[in-house]
Amino acid sequence: MSKISDAMDRIREIQRDSDKPPLRNRRRADRTDTHDPTGDTWTGLRLVELDQDLLERNRILTAESDRAAAEMSYKMLRTRMIRRLRDNGWSSVVVTSADTGAGKSVTAINLAISVALESNQTAYLVDLDLRQSSLHTYLGVEPPAGDLTAYLEGRCGLHDVLVDAGIPRLYFAFNSIPQQHSAELLSSTRMRDFVAELHTKDPNGLIIYDAPPLLVADDVLAFLPNFDAVLMVVAEGQTSREDLNKCIDMLSEVEVLGLVLNKSHSANRKSAYY
Ligand SMILES: Nc1ncnc2c1ncn2[C@@H]1O[C@H](COP(=O)(O)OP(=O)(O)O)[C@@H](O)[C@H]1O
Ligand SMILES: [Mg+2]
Repeated sequence: MSKISDAMDRIREIQRDSDKPPLRNRRRADRTDTHDPTGDTWTGLRLVELDQDLLERNRILTAESDRAAAEMSYKMLRTRMIRRLRDNGWSSVVVTSADTGAGKSVTAINLAISVALESNQTAYLVDLDLRQSSLHTYLGVEPPAGDLTAYLEGRCGLHDVLVDAGIPRLYFAFNSIPQQHSAELLSSTRMRDFVAELHTKDPNGLIIYDAPPLLVADDVLAFLPNFDAVLMVVAEGQTSREDLNKCIDMLSEVEVLGLVLNKSHSANRKSAYY
């Protein structure tokens, strides 16, 4: 049986076994747990307001979302991911896929929101896809002039890059202009500085990287020493078994937390496999 079918069967098993009720909608004003363990580490960051309708259109979970099934899937994914990371003392995960369009960015955003909303854990979502950066587009945010590339080129500091979008415990690092020399940037000492600086400022923070696809360029491999584990997004009916096998071979030296089956026809929703 193909790996994708294996994953799908296991996903359905997990869903069947789950007897937990879906999360209730949470309205922003109803949330009481807005404690941010980073305290005033990030005061003065650039603040942006998110357009809830745009988020809904872009399949991004919001506090007002009425998509309990999708929310449940991300919640399961988040819980398993955090447990695996904590068990191993890890703090960063790269979200990647074989090719473009599998749903990495949507998955990474929803996962980061789910982490920040539901656990007492600060999260950082970093747009590492320097050739096809899309986090800011999905969220409807104009990236600051000091974006990730500006940091990597030594033109600004960490405080200039991080953006506070009003979601408690969640901070974004966007990129705006496509970079052709992305692999050099991702393997640079400035990239290592970025990771180290973030870790020093917030040792308990969880960093989620929205990464480029594995089979298009060697960007993820260039970034290799900087992250702990990988989450592979597999799009049903889109990612071929051959490509998935190539990715698994490429990641033989890397901790793969699991596969996320996206665009599942049967369940009409995102599903997760660990
Ligand atoms: N679960 C899903 N169901 C249907 N469409 C989806 C799903 N996840 C993502 N998409 C859509 O697929 C396209 C590619 O998603 P994106 O996250 O940008 O992929 P990637 O980052 O892997 O290139 C977007 O139009 C997005 O809205
Ligand atoms: Mg993307």
